[in-house]
Amino acid sequence: MAQAARSIPTTSSLAFDRSIDRSMRGTRTSDGAGVKLTRVVGTPLLRRLDPFLMLDEFRSDEPEDYLAGFPDHPHRGFETITYMIAGRFRHRDNRGNEGILAAGGAQWMTAGRGIVHSEMPEQEEGLVHGFQLWLNLPRKDKMCEPSYRDLQSEDIPRVTLPGGSVVRVLGGAVGDVTGPISGRATEPIYLDVELAPGGSAELAVPSGHEGFVYPFHGDVVVGPPGRERALARGELGVLTSGDGVRLRAKDAAARALVVAGKPLGEPIVQYGPFVMTTPEEVEQAVRDFQAGRF
Ligand code: FE2
Repeated sequence: MAQAARSIPTTSSLAFDRSIDRSMRGTRTSDGAGVKLTRVVGTPLLRRLDPFLMLDEFRSDEPEDYLAGFPDHPHRGFETITYMIAGRFRHRDNRGNEGILAAGGAQWMTAGRGIVHSEMPEQEEGLVHGFQLWLNLPRKDKMCEPSYRDLQSEDIPRVTLPGGSVVRVLGGAVGDVTGPISGRATEPIYLDVELAPGGSAELAVPSGHEGFVYPFHGDVVVGPPGRERALARGELGVLTSGDGVRLRAKDAAARALVVAGKPLGEPIVQYGPFVMTTPEEVEQAVRDFQAGRF
């Protein structure tokens, strides 16, 4: 269902007082069958940001960087959210699901007790640009039934803020506009914020959530007056506590992800694509995968 951009009122009692606690750049690496990417969360500089386990940005117009794709591989115990800015990927899983992830769309995959899938580029040339975020599941939900949703660009509501900035709401809410990724204990917020030159956005991020801002086009200035901090493209800023965040573009347009979630505060034992709470659960995951029980 197509959704027109909506405007929301300016009145708010929030302070939007979060600023940047620390910032870091990602690390160039490769994953899958040799896809070159930048790992931004999940490196020694930022191992995790509970409830987030990993953030990868893949961005290349060199086919040799992405053609190998991510052939069949398993996951257990968490969720992945893949968001495409440009390019196309086809995904298939061992439960018979298949779909195309195209520019502006997202895939929300809940691995639960286990899934085996592939994620392969559906193009042989041109730009591929997107993100994959790993969101942890609480211990009680780690063995849930796997599920996934394909979200086309038109399934993701857009909100026009006062001043003309546009926010695509994948998860969480902006005003009374709620994104399709919802109904999780971690109450994830996943926003793509597009700022016009000189434009700004004030976004609610509930206190208690951990979160970050990641500019992927241009630079953004983050924080309340007096505590502003500029983030350059490709520089992730971890948010301090507060009830919301203010983003501002300088004299050039900018675009950034704003991602936040309620920390689980549970132990994390990870072995590659298996993320559980005890070593025994991870060993069980490896045995179940090897025995074809996913
Ligand atoms: Fe995967």
